[in-house]
Amino acid sequence: MSFLKHNGELLPNSIRVVSRGKRSGGFFKLRFLQSVFLLATVFLTYFATLGMNIFSPGDLDSRLLSLQEVLQENPKVVKPPVKRRRKYHPCEIQFVESVNNIVEPKDYMNFTQFSLDYIDKEENKHFGIINFEPRFGGHQTLQERENTFYATDKTLHCGFVKGPPGSSSTLFDLEEKDRAYMNTCRVVVSSCIFGSSDYLRRPDRRMISEFSKKNVCFVIFVDEQTLSTLSSDGNIPDDQGYMGLWRIVVVRNLPYKDMRKAGKVPKFLSHRLFPSSRYSIWLDSKMRLHADPMLIIEYFLWRTRSEYAISNHYERHCVWEEVLQNKRLNKYNQTAIDEQFGYYEADGLTKFDPSDPNTPLPSYVPEGSFIIRAHTPMSNLFSCLWFNEVDRFTSRDQLSFAYTYLKLRRMNPDRPFYLNMFKDCQRRAMAKLLKHRELSPPSIT
Ligand SMILES: *[C@@H]1O[C@H](CO)[C@@H](O)[C@H](O)[C@H]1NC(C)=O
Ligand SMILES: *[C@@H]1O[C@H](CO)[C@@H](O)[C@H](O)[C@H]1NC(C)=O
Repeated sequence: MSFLKHNGELLPNSIRVVSRGKRSGGFFKLRFLQSVFLLATVFLTYFATLGMNIFSPGDLDSRLLSLQEVLQENPKVVKPPVKRRRKYHPCEIQFVESVNNIVEPKDYMNFTQFSLDYIDKEENKHFGIINFEPRFGGHQTLQERENTFYATDKTLHCGFVKGPPGSSSTLFDLEEKDRAYMNTCRVVVSSCIFGSSDYLRRPDRRMISEFSKKNVCFVIFVDEQTLSTLSSDGNIPDDQGYMGLWRIVVVRNLPYKDMRKAGKVPKFLSHRLFPSSRYSIWLDSKMRLHADPMLIIEYFLWRTRSEYAISNHYERHCVWEEVLQNKRLNKYNQTAIDEQFGYYEADGLTKFDPSDPNTPLPSYVPEGSFIIRAHTPMSNLFSCLWFNEVDRFTSRDQLSFAYTYLKLRRMNPDRPFYLNMFKDCQRRAMAKLLKHRELSPPSIT
């Protein structure tokens, strides 16, 4: 995500400078020319030094990234903008005035009903695998995977799969006191920082009602490395384990080496981590919450009678484009992306068609950094299915969202799933996007 952001910013930034120059006369024009000159100098010096051919084919993106790194390392050469440029603006959300006036609507929870159970333990006798190793996501066969898409009573893989007795820990290990606390939560706001990829962004207290401060659990999951980085920044949890509104929950033994993948556990599986919870809101750690969670639930779930709400991507709506973009920016092992996408195409993933009034979604690419959920059977099933895709294939969850949704719909034509895909500008109004900690951290996106 960070490459994308930086990449997206470079060009429009210069355009912004030009238009400001027009408005306020010669000074900015001069500054702009100076910047261009300096930029050109840096560019030429850099490539001359390294003796590279700037225009060698197929390689431009990596060169642009290197150039940005140079710019980042020489902040005096080209001043970074003082304030974050806002190409995409937030838009207003008509929240109700106060949490005092809201109640869960009668009959709200009358969504598609069935019961879900989760596979807790696996033993090798079912698989006959040599060197059987327990996996957090389990060993799901393709036939089992197919059956999981039917919205009927069932037991399915949904992370947290333990190995046979005597095998090592289940991974994603939590302390008993944290677990006990999490069991009490009815409404949850959660996030995570793994691998020190972000700063701690505390929710904006002024925007959070007393009711929510008292009744909503704000939990941020961190690994031990992040905990120690945070303490060296001076962020130390108090005796109760809080920093501001966040309760810090330390996770030991992350189940994946890829931090992005590990971040998908709390992102998708809040219904499993908080087994008594009725609602949850997820936000990526690069964002600061500045809206009241109960007002968010009222607006995005209750008012629209939805059970799952996620914003669409601010730029891309076709997952084919998302794949290209992932490959262009070298976000992930390209062979793995091709394998995943080839599988989806073969299994009937269709292209997004904005002109078709019956398109089931306003976009096939989500901006998945903010998710609002009622923990209903359909919503929980969708979360498990989406998680299983990430577990089986790549951690790029934007690639699997539409496939998972469309397949779920296709296999359950009579069992609706009330998904509310809202505008990304609304997401911006609730959660401010801030910078990642480093230029290329193992960020959780
Ligand atoms: C749930 O109840 C509301 C209000 O009575 C109704 O409008 C809606 O259609 C119902 N939904 C389902 C899935 O039964
Ligand atoms: C990339 O993915 C393919 C297919 O999953 C795998 O065989 C290969 O080892 C991966 N390459 C790297 C560098 O991880």
